Amino acid sequence: MLIRNIKGLVQVRESIVHQVAGQAMADLPVIDHAYLTISGGVISGFGPMSEMPQMSAADEIDASGCFVLPSFVDSHTHLVFAASREEEFVMKIKGATYEQIAARGGGILNSAKKLQQASEDELFERSLQRAHEIMRTGTGAVEIKSGYGLTVRDEIKMLRVAKRIARHTPLTVRTTFLGAHAVPAGIKKEDYISLIVREMIPAIAAEQLADYIDVFCEQGFFSVDETEKIVKEGKRFGMKPRIHANQLHRSGGVQVGVKVGALSVDHLENIGVEEIEVLKNSRIMPTALPGAAFFLGLPFPPARTILEAGLPLAIASDYNPGSAPSGNMPLMVALACIKMKLTPEEAINAATINTAAALELQATHGSITKGKVANVFITRPMSSLAYLPYAFGSSLIDQVILGGKRYNI
Ligand code: NIG
Ligand code: FE
Repeated sequence: MLIRNIKGLVQVRESIVHQVAGQAMADLPVIDHAYLTISGGVISGFGPMSEMPQMSAADEIDASGCFVLPSFVDSHTHLVFAASREEEFVMKIKGATYEQIAARGGGILNSAKKLQQASEDELFERSLQRAHEIMRTGTGAVEIKSGYGLTVRDEIKMLRVAKRIARHTPLTVRTTFLGAHAVPAGIKKEDYISLIVREMIPAIAAEQLADYIDVFCEQGFFSVDETEKIVKEGKRFGMKPRIHANQLHRSGGVQVGVKVGALSVDHLENIGVEEIEVLKNSRIMPTALPGAAFFLGLPFPPARTILEAGLPLAIASDYNPGSAPSGNMPLMVALACIKMKLTPEEAINAATINTAAALELQATHGSITKGKVANVFITRPMSSLAYLPYAFGSSLIDQVILGGKRYNI
């Protein structure tokens, strides 16, 4: 495949870059008036049009006026769920808080009830639609968590569905076991933690269903000590940690994430100087989920302070039925610009190369680099790259190419 006359080929890296941090996040390499070639499902060449080799390809695309970007890597989602929760949305509009809704049997337990009642096939069909939806909005690789099963059988069911999505779509999928998302009704927390440790983790590991382990470290959910205990057990079974940290309170989630060597700490709506200092001494990827902060009316993570400290930042969607019912990565990039004061360049770095690093996919995803998986999208004609987050909510993706093949949007 040959894409020619590209107005701007974005996120071009000659070699594999692990991540970008601090001031370097402002640099987003772009080739103006460029071409891109794809063969065997991988990026085979690119450069300015003036250097395009004489060639004819079976599939040629003229991208005059358009930008080409590497597909987004969405490093935090809960896209396997049984049903939406717009009834809670209305409660929230009328003033109920996330915690009040959870206390009234809504929230995660509401999703768990619905998921437990759905068959694996039903769950797959519903989740597959969401996978197609995120492909249409430019996502090429995605992390999917369990956490709405809360029984051995249903946590396994969720992760099997996530694996089926990987087999039935061109998406690259990473899976995370989040049994410690909430304590089911009618069971003591310590007994549920025992169930996670003694039964869920070994059963999930035996089927190789999870790359990672996550805990919702939050007041009213799992404490710092409980988080540490659970992820340590996951690590013994080969699941690397990532933590839901500091969403609603200064929960100590960041500190425990650093202590256990997590790959990422995600949310960060409630962090201060101490957490930033702790992050500075780690290799962790701080990850903001602007859709959740927006939907719940929470403070947005202090992105500028994070970058000023020389740290990297990633941006993911948190696609889930309770706190972020959208997996639209262009919208997340727009929110990061509008609400977190990232520049378009910083936000695109955060949603491509840094999310790829957060999922250990930096060798294959997240940039236009020879040999990487040919996951790219072509925008509609745009006056400049900044138009993408500026025109928030607009549908600006015209063509999606995943694994070197056109995906019909
Ligand atoms: O990432 N914070 C915890 N989990 C999800 C929300 C879960 C839900 O309400 O269903 C999140 O925001
Ligand atoms: Fe989440």
